[in-house]
Amino acid sequence: MGSANRGNWASRLGFILAAAGSAIGLGNIWRFPYVTGKSGGGLFYLTYTVCVIVVGLPIMVAEVLLGRATQSSPIVAFRELSSRRSPWIGVGWMGVITGFLILSYYSVVAGWTVHYVVLAVRNSFVGQSADAIGALFGELVASPGANVGYHALFMGMTVLVVLGGVSAGIERWSRILMPALFLMLIGLMAYCFFLPGFGDAAAFVFAPHTTSFDASSVLKALGQAFYSLSLGMGAMLTYGSYLSRDTGIPKSSVWVAVLDSAIATLASLVVFPITFSFGMQAEAGPGLIFKSIPIAFSQMTGGYLLSIVFFVLIVFAALTSSISLQEVVTSSFIDLFGWGRRKVCLRTGAIIFVFGVPSALLGSEGFFGAGLQKLTGKNFFDWVDYITANWMLPLGGLLIAIFTGFVLERSLREEEFRRGTTWGAVYSVWLPLLRYVVPLAVAVVFAQSSGLLKLFGIDWGS
Ligand code: PHE
Repeated sequence: MGSANRGNWASRLGFILAAAGSAIGLGNIWRFPYVTGKSGGGLFYLTYTVCVIVVGLPIMVAEVLLGRATQSSPIVAFRELSSRRSPWIGVGWMGVITGFLILSYYSVVAGWTVHYVVLAVRNSFVGQSADAIGALFGELVASPGANVGYHALFMGMTVLVVLGGVSAGIERWSRILMPALFLMLIGLMAYCFFLPGFGDAAAFVFAPHTTSFDASSVLKALGQAFYSLSLGMGAMLTYGSYLSRDTGIPKSSVWVAVLDSAIATLASLVVFPITFSFGMQAEAGPGLIFKSIPIAFSQMTGGYLLSIVFFVLIVFAALTSSISLQEVVTSSFIDLFGWGRRKVCLRTGAIIFVFGVPSALLGSEGFFGAGLQKLTGKNFFDWVDYITANWMLPLGGLLIAIFTGFVLERSLREEEFRRGTTWGAVYSVWLPLLRYVVPLAVAVVFAQSSGLLKLFGIDWGS
């Protein structure tokens, strides 16, 4: 199984950093705070944490295990573990499509972060009022040219790194940039600790109040867990396929989940203190971090340099995630069609860029922006985000759990779990979670969200 020239992580730490690099990204820094803000804060945070532990972690182990066992990309992995004509191959395909869709709009948001590097370099924050800083975001989103341009730039960067291959490109960057981002966020949080709104912010994030938390928030918490941990579409499977067969899985997975949640928590403890201290709305939506974080820099000493470093780090955090999305598509096409890495990267990257253009037009008056928004309550960007994160990733994760829990040969599953780890005993916890808890949790949330439960007279809210 697997081919010799696929490349491997240089070490276990290399894998953890690369996988954490995939997990930690805009999902933690941009998406988590704004979804938490819109979905009620504390109770959402709690639900999210439960989803990470009982649903996310078991699936992460399953994905990495499938990848390491086959040393192949998702589609080929399912083919090898079932049969040539098996419908399970569809799970691999769905992963490729999901990766394609997520990357198409992920790159738009990442483009915004590139723009914020430019704004920081031009010294656009220091000494400015909160309103003036908020207006910068409005201007950006309303400009189709800037949005499409930055989106193109970011897709170009993603393709370039993935062209470099696995350990040369991906591992090297993650090693330096992930720790740097972590330190920077801790420093920022320390600064925000002294803002007048810190207490309110901590209460908002951690106290289990029920404002604007309803049943649909559970779907969002579940979706956010999948999104943030890069689960349900084969990204972790693909990264697992570059793991040497003697490197253990459960402990590394726990590390990735802990680091990921730590960064999301830190990001919230930076964003919300600023939000509350400056009388902004926690429910501001996708613009939240762009409107709030620069305010901190506008006032602090050294704000000019720090703002540049900060946004550069976010661009890199986004990049270490976008390359995992691009890598799923790339490795699948390489394994399937035997094309060269270069050809696959350039072609798929170009198609993903084109598909992302309607998302980049979210602030326009045209059909993809205001038009759809008026018709459906969501613009194109919102729709792609909503469908992929809340439905496709959990569905993919559900199918991966069922496949690993029930379809995969018993001895292979157990042997692969125990190989290379001192945590072999955890198998007896992992398997029931994967077999029963994950499917049940995802199914109930889906049933509730699609209105199915209402048919049976059960109604937990909207
Ligand atoms: N986990 C990434 C983030 O938090 C996004 C992502 C989702 C990456 C799915 C790969 C697969 O930004």
